Amino acid sequence: MKEQLDALSAAMFADLGTALSEKGLQELKVRYLGKKGELTAVMKCLGTLSPEERPLAGQAINAIKERFEEEFASRLAGVKEADKLHRLASERIDVTLPGRRNSVGTRHPVTLVMEEVSEIFAGLGFQVAEGPEIELDFYNFEALNFPKDHPARDMQDTFFLEGERLLRTHTSPVQVRTMLRHAPPVRIIAPGTVYRCDSDATHSPMFHQIEGLMVDKGITFGDLKGILTIFLNQYFGKGIGMRLRPSFFPFTEPSAEVDIACVICKGAGCRVCKNSGWLEILGAGMVDPEVFRHVGYNPDEVTGFAFGMGIERLAMLKYGINDMRFLFENDIRFLSQF
Ligand code: FA5
Ligand code: MG
Repeated sequence: MKEQLDALSAAMFADLGTALSEKGLQELKVRYLGKKGELTAVMKCLGTLSPEERPLAGQAINAIKERFEEEFASRLAGVKEADKLHRLASERIDVTLPGRRNSVGTRHPVTLVMEEVSEIFAGLGFQVAEGPEIELDFYNFEALNFPKDHPARDMQDTFFLEGERLLRTHTSPVQVRTMLRHAPPVRIIAPGTVYRCDSDATHSPMFHQIEGLMVDKGITFGDLKGILTIFLNQYFGKGIGMRLRPSFFPFTEPSAEVDIACVICKGAGCRVCKNSGWLEILGAGMVDPEVFRHVGYNPDEVTGFAFGMGIERLAMLKYGINDMRFLFENDIRFLSQF
């Protein structure tokens, strides 16, 4: 029996020394000390020994059992500690790292321009008016003195919808809607989105305009030029170059287009101004008597001027943007500069 015990205890402690996990250790304990364990089996054989041998063998078995349990406890503590250190290392958080910030959006340059322009005109006594983007032919063309089949309709490449409906090609229908609702005097601006089948570096199929309309007794072309001069000097700074070119719109007579000196190339000529040194920013003129008749105003009593300017053009000139498409690509790196 002595040799048997020696061999068993050698195996037990060797195993104990190589078990690396808590689970492995527990399995060893069951294997040797459990009810059907190997040391337990030896213990059960004590009865077959002589009465002299029995106490000695019993003591030896107990000693092995005690030592095993002691070593088991210390190995278990060691494995648990190693486990804990491993977990701590892998779950380590560096509290000195900077936190994640929520990124805050910026306002779109088109919005910024609309707000700034609206503010300047508010200072000149203009109120803001609105109209729908899906518009009826009557307001977009007919009442503005574009008769059906008139070639002037081709000036604005229109997206037609079903029936009489279309996407408004300019903010001028707001003039009609406003005058139909209010008797003179009128002094409004109408910022909004408009649509045309048109696309290149200075034209976008969806863009924005601000309409202006002032109607009262005795309004002249001089008032139009004065208001626009005040506006451009406030918006671009004093002394910005401006020129009026004779033009044609069915709803104004006389009509003009207003250019400002290209602020991108300072007049030297570039892609944006198509090498002319000037950039068209708005159309304007004296309200045509025919339009007054359509909205029930008496052209012998009142006169007025109107203008419509492209907001993207203003944004490009103000911020030195050389391609209108940047404004609609929604690249955060571009937009966050404003
Ligand atoms: C008009 O739209 C007239 N309704 C303006 C007007 C109002 C005249 C009141 C008289 C009285 P026009 O098509 O020229 O006119 O457009 C006006 C401005 O919108 C242009 O000067 C330009 O700055 C801008 N614009 C025109 N087409 C585009 C486009 N595709 N993309 C960006 N801006 C444009
Ligand atoms: Mg034009």
